[in-house]
Amino acid sequence: MKQIGIQDESSDSRAPVTAAVISADPAFRDALTTILASREIGIRLAVEIDSPLTEIADPELDELRRANPGIVFLDLEENPHVGLKFAEFLVESSISSALIGAGASASPELLLSAMQAGVSEFLTKPVTHEAVVSAIERIWRKKGKKLDLTRRTPGQLLVVFGAKGGSGSTTMCANLAVELHRLTRKKVLLLDLDLELGETALLYGVEPQFSVVDLMRNFHRVDTGLLASYIERHESGVELLSAPFEPADFEAVSGDRVRRVLEFLKQHYDYIVVDAPKTFNPATTAAFREADEIYLLVTADLPSIRNLTRSLPLLRNLRGRKALEDWLRLVVNRFEPDLEIPISDIERTLSMKVYGTLRNDYSAVMTSINHGRPVVTDGKSAYAKDIRSLAAQITGVPVEKPSKSFIKGLFGSFRSNGRSPGAAPLDVGAPTESRVIADE
Ligand SMILES: Nc1ncnc2c1ncn2[C@@H]1O[C@H](COP(=O)(O)OP(=O)(O)O)[C@@H](O)[C@H]1O
Ligand SMILES: [Mg+2]
Repeated sequence: MKQIGIQDESSDSRAPVTAAVISADPAFRDALTTILASREIGIRLAVEIDSPLTEIADPELDELRRANPGIVFLDLEENPHVGLKFAEFLVESSISSALIGAGASASPELLLSAMQAGVSEFLTKPVTHEAVVSAIERIWRKKGKKLDLTRRTPGQLLVVFGAKGGSGSTTMCANLAVELHRLTRKKVLLLDLDLELGETALLYGVEPQFSVVDLMRNFHRVDTGLLASYIERHESGVELLSAPFEPADFEAVSGDRVRRVLEFLKQHYDYIVVDAPKTFNPATTAAFREADEIYLLVTADLPSIRNLTRSLPLLRNLRGRKALEDWLRLVVNRFEPDLEIPISDIERTLSMKVYGTLRNDYSAVMTSINHGRPVVTDGKSAYAKDIRSLAAQITGVPVEKPSKSFIKGLFGSFRSNGRSPGAAPLDVGAPTESRVIADE
């Protein structure tokens, strides 16, 4: 993983710069954590002091001294007067080589006093990535250091959700991640959020030492290096952040923590494929909220379609009722040409178009599981071909031997298959929204 970290030349020339934040405002601390951890900045937030300025005492000051941060972000909003005194103290005691103040607004008087107290830059809340980058750039320019700030767009978060156990979500995630990487050569992470029964490691034939729960637990001190130590690299080039081997205690897994971790990961990967569990727990709902796309995996049977029907209102609620088609993509797994419930019926019942299909391919999938090797490793099977088409559709990168016509062919056969387009939707007991939520 390439890190464009800044080197602090004032001390050990190879020591990367760290930062500290002193703020009782959780939103400010959160935003900074994410921004500083981004790939183009890559500064580790070594100390977070969340007590009000008036309560900062020796233990906090000792922690600051030990960390010797290159930059201190000091929140002046709550108490500018005490904040500026504290800034003076930090400068005089050489605790930090650069001081960045922050507040809701900056009056000319405050800016002047801040400058006199030794504050080099001032950030207006809510802080943006650009503002932090510019502030650090200016500080480094003054100090004659260089900051390589190649802009990077955040990665795409693709969440796969099978409404029913056995829908094939783990199989799809493990294979899709490999194909996304093979097709684009970009950085792809497979993230197992099925924290109780995650099986992605099994499908990759690896036994990771660490899991995503370790990352969440230590998120307050995570940087690119620590992230790398939690990751398992698969021979395909995909990186895996697995579920714990044994169901762990999930205290660290609050929705908010998951959101922060996902934001952080988006800064480090181009594609993140998330295997979501079948439950709407805080981790899954955070992933659904953050997702760029949610792939709903359904099999052509009533329980699967019914479960998905019941989940849709909740998904809609989570996303503030944005047009569904923007981010929800329906994939039919275990597709066969003579399905008892044809695609047209599934589409009508769910009021969604099918985005892709994965054929029923028992022998290829079973061989893959038994060998701990993704199905797509041997690209000839029907399942592998369908995953490849799906990856091409998602990325817009064509596969070498275009197989889109193949998918189209399949769609042709769906249409001519089974019930007429005007047939009534399947009776899956589609509930009203309030009933669904009460069900959960
Ligand atoms: N397209 C497919 N063809 C044949 N078997 C499949 C297919 N997709 C998944 N399976 C099998 O179905 C079972 C459940 O798949 P899995 O990916 O574990 O589902 P989930 O994670 O949604 O519970 C596994 O035994 C898997 O090998
Ligand atoms: Mg699974």
